[in-house]
Amino acid sequence: MHIERIAGALGAELTGLDLTRALTDGELDDLRAAVVEHKVVFLRNQPYAIEHLERLTEQFGGRGTTPFLRAIEGHPGVVKVVKEAHETGLNFGGAWHSDWSFQPEPPSFTLLWSVDVPPFGGDTMWSNQELAFRTLSDGLQDTLRGLRVVHSAGWAYAADGILARTANGRSMQIDTTDDALREQVHPAVPVHPVSGNEALFVNPTYTVRFDGWSAADSAPLLQHLYTHSTRDAFTCRFRWTPNTLAIWDNRSTQHNALNDYRGHRRELHRTTVAGGSPTR
Ligand code: SIN
Repeated sequence: MHIERIAGALGAELTGLDLTRALTDGELDDLRAAVVEHKVVFLRNQPYAIEHLERLTEQFGGRGTTPFLRAIEGHPGVVKVVKEAHETGLNFGGAWHSDWSFQPEPPSFTLLWSVDVPPFGGDTMWSNQELAFRTLSDGLQDTLRGLRVVHSAGWAYAADGILARTANGRSMQIDTTDDALREQVHPAVPVHPVSGNEALFVNPTYTVRFDGWSAADSAPLLQHLYTHSTRDAFTCRFRWTPNTLAIWDNRSTQHNALNDYRGHRRELHRTTVAGGSPTR
């Protein structure tokens, strides 16, 4: 396996693996280690088949729970992330977030495999949340180590959430419901179960407030953290080509899908891998 970094902060392209067959234990260990180290990895020229995505998801640890999004029929956990050429509204994933951070056990990894990509635009960005934490001042790091954060899917997926209010004309199958208002508390700075590194675990899509603080009291510090954690210097940006698989570590990154390809179609298939309860 050959690894070539694509940015200073995170991200690497990997060559030398063939995902049309099951990986050996050794290959799997190397791939998993590369994802944890580089936080997001990209494998181009991997012919897509839903069975390949499902097999690799199983090999990585089994699929996580996918709320709100309808799976492809007969393929539980596999979601078609699609925006048709005629759609002019919001795109799915078009704001900084870590996948399903509002779950009691958020996913460890996400796999996203490109099927159809626009001739320009539609890139995805990732941001390194370990680097974001390390570059805060010592005093704020210490404060955050003692804080817990409330997450919920409400802003996005509640019955009157942003995805419900912008549903008109959207081809993606999203079920919005007030179940999304359920809240979940996690440490603000969990320790990664494999690397042992601390990472900031707040994001503007699913974080609601600090535990024990009002939303108003939380807002200034959260806004500071959102701005800091997605600074250019902590990010990478990936230009998709068809048949490319991205795998990222949700415990150490946020990501954001850019919506700059109006008039063109974009389709990728996504699974998440079951994770654990963030701890420190
Ligand atoms: C997502 O947030 O999972 C979607 C990312 C993308 O479409 O690039």
